[in-house]
Amino acid sequence: LADRPLAGKKVLVTAGGTVERIDPVRYLTNDSSGKMGFAVAEAARELGAEVTVIAARTSAPKPAGVELVKVESALELREEVLSRYAFADVAVMAAAVADYRPLRQEEQKIKKTGDTLTLELVKNPDILQELGERKNGQLLIGFAAETENVEANARGKLKRKHCDLLVANDVSAEGAGFGTDTNIITIYGSDGSSLPLPLVSKREAALRLMRLAAEKLGPAAKG
Ligand code: PMT
Repeated sequence: LADRPLAGKKVLVTAGGTVERIDPVRYLTNDSSGKMGFAVAEAARELGAEVTVIAARTSAPKPAGVELVKVESALELREEVLSRYAFADVAVMAAAVADYRPLRQEEQKIKKTGDTLTLELVKNPDILQELGERKNGQLLIGFAAETENVEANARGKLKRKHCDLLVANDVSAEGAGFGTDTNIITIYGSDGSSLPLPLVSKREAALRLMRLAAEKLGPAAKG
């Protein structure tokens, strides 16, 4: 059990960047490669967990030994996450979820007409917040991609979204955040703790995170 502290636990992870369709050939997305979420999934598996990854758009090699569910948009990601959440012991929201989506998804390719084109966006549901509100024994881990006021923003998200742990990364720092094989994270806890890690591989950061999750969870598997 010492090296498989997540044995018997179910871990749900999201990875990648959501794709929000504008028309059949165009979309809005972000720079997430899926590397961080996939590293979390592999770390959880290595520590003995049964892992499901809900993956939006990714460019990283698929993690081995885990169930992989592909989605496109934030709304699809939400469906897949919510349908599995009740059975999870740990949920980790590493995906970069679009805050807004186009109000209309045009069925036909938008024609080039005027000199300007206005795209109207509507807010997506905040999935992590919903998970926080529906928590029923799960250890809930959020991420925060920040470019300024990292600690204040991260602690704000931790509290607002009812997370147990919140992983902050300053995505403007060299070697951290989107696309890289490394990250610089600080893990904030709902108990007021903070664990800053130096620049390490996403694999190493993920292992540290999942070991901490295992400690927080304690030995008993969820009924
Ligand atoms: O994929 P990589 O290239 O390896 O890059 C890793 C990463 C930078 C994407 C990752 O480390 C990271 O920070 N993921 C979270 C990105 C993000 O959406 O951060 P945010 O601060 O906008 O959102 C805060 C949290 O709320 C996140 O857990 C996010 O999944 C969640 N969220 C956000 C918006 C929304 N509508 N629903 C959500 O659930």
